[in-house]
Amino acid sequence: MSAKPFVILGAGGHGRVVADALRSSGLEVAAFLDSDRSIHGTSIDGVRVAGGDEALAGYPPARYSAAIGVGGLKDTRRRRAVFEAAAAAGADLPPVVAASAVVSASARLGPGAQVLTRAVVHPGASIGAGAVVNTAAVVEHDAAVGDHAFVGPAAVILGGARIGADAFVGAGAVVLPGIRVGAGALVAAGAVVRAAVPDGGKALGRGARLRRSR
Ligand SMILES: CC(C)(COP(=O)(O)OP(=O)(O)OC[C@H]1O[C@@H](n2cnc3c(N)ncnc32)[C@H](O)[C@@H]1OP(=O)(O)O)[C@@H](O)C(=O)NCCC(=O)NCCS
Repeated sequence: MSAKPFVILGAGGHGRVVADALRSSGLEVAAFLDSDRSIHGTSIDGVRVAGGDEALAGYPPARYSAAIGVGGLKDTRRRRAVFEAAAAAGADLPPVVAASAVVSASARLGPGAQVLTRAVVHPGASIGAGAVVNTAAVVEHDAAVGDHAFVGPAAVILGGARIGADAFVGAGAVVLPGIRVGAGALVAAGAVVRAAVPDGGKALGRGARLRRSR
């Protein structure tokens, strides 16, 4: 991980979680940038909100890294847009890994991927550019999380499952082994996904059915 101080784009809840993850790994957070002008000049969790995204120009990539602080929401497009604008401006966007997270040596993290507090990424798994593995989520062996996808707190992506680019997996959801969740799809909090979800589709709910024997 980069040892430069970080600027975080987005000072809301997700940005603050990212700040904590960076600081847990001994990294400095130099500033938040946020489009909400009413918070410019204020301090959030001890970090100054130094301006809007345009202020990134004052934090050259030779001396600062950048992290995306925009959260999952139902629509991951805003986070992707902030990432792509920062990348186009030449920002250094290394992966962010909380000190309490576990990432296998054989897992792959794309630029700006985030593996947050107590999340686990197992052998052979891959996390795409700008994708988030949020608090205590688990990405099992050989599973793939696409670019800018969001895996919510305590969600579990089982072995070999595939989460498409820009998909959103809600808190506590389980995606069963080898199942594909399509690009831009939405998996609701607590869902158990047993069959492929089409691109842009939505999966809701879980339900145990009782059988006499296993
Ligand atoms: C699915 C979700 C996005 C809501 O979607 P929505 O389209 O706005 O849903 P609505 O609230 O309009 O509800 C639509 C239907 O889905 C159902 N529904 C909503 N959330 C559900 C869930 N988690 N599980 C099962 N059913 C759910 C509603 O009961 C409703 O059913 P009905 O049509 O039979 O009345 C939301 O409930 C959710 O799960 N969000 C994830 C939040 C999260 O994990 N965030 C992590 C951030 S760090």
